[in-house]
Amino acid sequence: MSLLKILHYPDPRLHTVARPVTAVDAEIRRLAADMAETMYAAPGIGLAATQVDRHIRMIVVDISEDKNALLTLINPRILTREGEAEREEGCLSVPGIYDKVTRAERIHVEAMDLDGHTFEMDADGLLAVCIQHEIDHLDGKVFVEYLSRLKQTRIRSKLLKQAKEAM
Ligand code: NI
Repeated sequence: MSLLKILHYPDPRLHTVARPVTAVDAEIRRLAADMAETMYAAPGIGLAATQVDRHIRMIVVDISEDKNALLTLINPRILTREGEAEREEGCLSVPGIYDKVTRAERIHVEAMDLDGHTFEMDADGLLAVCIQHEIDHLDGKVFVEYLSRLKQTRIRSKLLKQAKEAM
């Protein structure tokens, strides 16, 4: 396994719309393992393939404290949404920035697992937020795009400055 490089906002590649996975093969399973390792090392609770510059529809999520509840969702689709909840979010692609976003409180999701089997699941609370946030990445959307234009401008210049200083 290996750690993957995470793209940082405002990298334009984060706005790529990912394509569906057509077959779950060894390459997909290896990418899923690398994404999980990268997420745990960061550390974070979710990572989309888009963030590691692989533009296929796959996300990994683990909101557990002990980091033992890894979920890999391939071609995830939200079938139903219920309620609304506001929660502070962060993102491995937007380091050091946290802000409140309103999303559905409960979702019902369909996805494929690493054996290529389709399954459905319900999610609420932090897990629902995390899955919605990661699916947004697959659609080329970063959470800061829910914030005001002014905040987005500030975040963009802050991160560009950080990137320059790191060079
Ligand atoms: Ni993110």
